[in-house]
Parts: sequence; C-alpha cells; structure tokens
Amino acid sequence: MNIIKFDSEAKLNEAAARIITGIVQTNPSAVLGLATGGTPVGIYKQLVHDYNEGLVSFKKVTTFNLDEYVGLAPDHHQSYSYYMRENLFNHVDVDASRTNIPSGLASDLGEECSRYDQLIQAAGRIDIQLLGLGHNGHIGFNEPEEELSSGTHVVDLAEETKQANARFFSEGEQVPSQAITMGVGTILKAKTLLLVVKGKDKAEIVKRALTGPITTDVPASLLQTHPQLTVLVDQAAGSLLP
Ligand code: GLP
Repeated sequence: MNIIKFDSEAKLNEAAARIITGIVQTNPSAVLGLATGGTPVGIYKQLVHDYNEGLVSFKKVTTFNLDEYVGLAPDHHQSYSYYMRENLFNHVDVDASRTNIPSGLASDLGEECSRYDQLIQAAGRIDIQLLGLGHNGHIGFNEPEEELSSGTHVVDLAEETKQANARFFSEGEQVPSQAITMGVGTILKAKTLLLVVKGKDKAEIVKRALTGPITTDVPASLLQTHPQLTVLVDQAAGSLLP
C-alpha cells in the first residue's frame, strides 16, 4: 500500500489525475472504474483540464461506474449518470456508448446486476478503480454488513449514508433508500486501486480502514488485501495515519 499525503487539495487532485491520465496515455483503450460523490469532483475537473490541454484523449476508454441510486432516472439531477455527464463525460471525448453505469430504473434489478457484471467481465480487467470512502467505511455503496457481496447487487442504504448524501439533494427531496453497487469482489479484481480521502471528518475511518483489522464492518478495510493500492489523502484526512 502506498499512502501519499498532500498539503493542498489542488495538488492531490493533480496527482490523482496524473495517475489516471498516465494509465490512459500508456493504454488508450484502458478500462476505468469511476466513482461519484464530493471527493472526485476536483479530480474530474483536472482531467477535463488535461484533456483541454491536449495531454490525454479518452476516445477509446471504457468506463464503469461503481454505483447508481435505485429509482432515479439518468436525467435526474442527483443520479450518478447525470453527475458523470456534468462532471466529466460532457467535457471530454469519451464515447458515450462505452460509458457504463447501472440503471436504477431497471424493472428487474437482479437482471440489471447480472447484466452489469457480464459487461465488466466482457471488458476484461478494470485497469484502475477510483474510490472514495463513506463515513462508515463504505466503498461504492457496499455498506458495513456481516457478509459482503462479491458481484453487483442491490443494497439498502445505511441511514448514515442517506444523511451524508442528503446534502446534494434539494430540500424536501428524498434520498433514495436503495442503490445498485459493484461488489467488493469486483472492486478488488481491478488491477490498480486509487482511494482518495479528503477532510477531517474522514480521518478516523480512513485510519480504521487502512490500519485496523480487515472486517466486513469496515468494507474499505478489505482494500488492505490488494497488491496495488494507492491512497491519496489531504492533511486533514491523513492526520491519524502513519
Ligand atoms: C457515496 C458514494 C461513494 C462515495 C462516498 C463518499 O455515497 N456511493 O462512492 O465514495 O459516498 O462520498 P463523498 O466523497 O461525497 O464523501
């Protein structure tokens, strides 16, 4: 595991973007695993900047997002599909037909999960999976449980997660109570993992995840088992890390 601390958010975003663009420069057809939430917004801005500077092209990449809310249409302003278009896809040359996000509107959610797993399998290995960290240690939407699912599955969101994500929703709007998420098994199969954690409120959980016991109570602790894990933290999030 490689943990790198940054004294500014701009430097962290630049470093994360450099890792991703490096992979795409080496392999223009790379398979990118993407994440949502507040944490990667600055990284996507940096990727758009790098694209505009002519440093990288996303024309041939394939992307798989970690998760999507159940019940939100792709054009809902809080769907992760909308988020990805707004923050990245609409601003770079990625081929929309090679961007993949589970459908939260599928009539048969179980079938949608299998379809998503098959697509990931058909694309081969995910070259780099970008990850944020939930306050309760979730990755994607893999919430703390006695048992974790390996493949894509439907989850009931923890109350804590709904509260944390309520900040993105308009007043009076309900945070969905379910989501479809890539499973921990799929995440761990990625060639490289890039975990990005920002803010003092994540200091304790990132310490537990990276230095505590490996337990399904803290899904991110399973990342410790991955041979190619890079963790980028700001000073605040990394304050309790060695
Ligand atoms: C969300 C997402 C995760 C994200 C995490 C942290 O619920 N499903 O993929 O990493 O919670 O989000 P944030 O970066 O906004 O703190």
